Amino acid sequence: MQFNLPKINIFGEQAIEQLIPEISKKKWASALIVTDKFMRESQAYQRVLKVFSSTKIKFKVFDKTSPDPNIELVEEATEYIKNTDCDFILTLGGGSAHDLGKGVALLSKTNKNIKDFVGINKVDHLVLPIVCINTTSGTGSEVTRFSIISDVNEKVKLAIIDDKLIPTISINDTETLITMPPFLTGTTGMDALTHAIEAYLSTEANTLTDAYAIKAIELISENLIEAYNNGKNIVARECMAQAQYMAGVAFSNASLGYVHAIAHQIGGRYHLPHGLCNAVLLPKIIEGVAKKNSSLRFNNIGKAMNVPMSAYGVISKIETMNSKLNIPNSLSDIGVRKDDIDDIVIKALEDPCRMTSPVQFTQDELVHILVKGLQEV
Ligand SMILES: NC(=O)c1ccc[n+]([C@@H]2O[C@H](COP(=O)([O-])OP(=O)(O)OC[C@H]3O[C@@H](n4cnc5c(N)ncnc54)[C@H](O)[C@@H]3O)[C@@H](O)[C@H]2O)c1
Ligand SMILES: [Fe+2]
Repeated sequence: MQFNLPKINIFGEQAIEQLIPEISKKKWASALIVTDKFMRESQAYQRVLKVFSSTKIKFKVFDKTSPDPNIELVEEATEYIKNTDCDFILTLGGGSAHDLGKGVALLSKTNKNIKDFVGINKVDHLVLPIVCINTTSGTGSEVTRFSIISDVNEKVKLAIIDDKLIPTISINDTETLITMPPFLTGTTGMDALTHAIEAYLSTEANTLTDAYAIKAIELISENLIEAYNNGKNIVARECMAQAQYMAGVAFSNASLGYVHAIAHQIGGRYHLPHGLCNAVLLPKIIEGVAKKNSSLRFNNIGKAMNVPMSAYGVISKIETMNSKLNIPNSLSDIGVRKDDIDDIVIKALEDPCRMTSPVQFTQDELVHILVKGLQEV
C-alpha cells in the first residue's frame, strides 16, 4: 500500500509568506504563475509578488484561468512557457487554477497531448514541480494526484490521475478564504464532503484514508453552514480549509465513486460548478448505493455527522445541509435535461472515478436513479 501527499503543507494566517524559505531551499530560478483575472487583483496576489521579490525568482504570469479549464487552455498556457527556463509552476486560485497548472506541468515536458494521459498512471515522464496556493475550500486539488480537464468537443471532463501530479508544496492561507462568496463556499464545501464520503466508501479505502475521511466529514458537518452564513468567521474558515485538505488526501489515495463519475459529465455538458453537481447528486447516489448494499459503513458516517447512524440519517443530513446552503434539490433545477440522461450515463460508466465505487450499477439502474433525480424530493 502506498499513501502519498505533498511533502510540504502550510496552513493558517501568513501561510503564503512561509513559502519564502521553502522555495529558496529548492534553488528554483523561474516560475509560471497560473491564476485568473479576479485573483490577479487580490491581496493574495500582491503577497505572492512579495515572495518572488524576496527570493529573486523570475516569473511569468498566465492569468487566463477559467472555471473548468479545457484542453485548449492547457495548450495555450504550455505554449506561453515553451522555450523559457521555467522550472516550476505556482498556482493561485481554486481547483481550476491548480488543474490547469498541473496540465501545464505535464505538457511542458512532453510532445504528447492531454488525451494521452487520461486514466490512471499514464504519465511516463517527470513533470515540472507544482506549488499550489489554494483559495477555495473544496477540491483538495492542492494535494491530489488528479487533474480534471474539460473536453469541450466531447462535452465531458477528463480525469488524469497520477502520483506525478501531486504538488510539491500546498498552501491553505486562511486570509485568502475570507473573500469567498456564500455560493462558492457552499458548493465547494459540498464537493469536499463528497470527496470524504466517496473515499470512505471506496473499495480502495484503508485505515489511513479512513482517518482523513472521517475527520473531514466531522469538520464539514460542524463548520460548513457557519462558514456559509458568516464568511468572516476565521475559525470556521480554518476548519473548512483543513477539512477539504483532509478530504483531498483521502480521495487522492482511495479515489472516488459514482457521484464524481456523473458530476464530471453534468459539469462538462452544462458548464455547472463542480461542487453544485456533487451536492445535488450525493444524496441520490447514496440512496442507490445503500439499496444495493446496506452493510456499507454508513453507521460511521452518520456518527461523524452527529445524526442517526444509517444511510437514511446521512441522506437526510445532506439534504438539510443543501437546503441551508440554498442548493436546489433536483437535477432539473440545475438544468439537467431528460433527453441527455442516456448519454450522461454512457459517459459516466467510462469515467475512472466509478471504478472504486463499493457497488456497481448497470446502465439501466443509473438511468433510473438520474431520471428519478430530475424531480423534487
Ligand atoms: N484535481 C482535483 O483533485 C479536483 C477535485 C475536485 C474538483 N476539481 C476541479 O476543480 C474545479 C473547480 O474548482 P473550485 O471549485 O475550487 O472553483 P474554481 O477554481 O473554478 O473557482 C471558481 C471561481 O471562484 C473564484 N475564487 C477563487 N478563490 C476565491 C476567493 N478566495 N474569493 C473569491 N473568489 C474566489 C475564482 O476566481 C473563480 O471565478 C472544477 O473544474 C473541478 O472539476 C479538481
Ligand atoms: Fe470533486
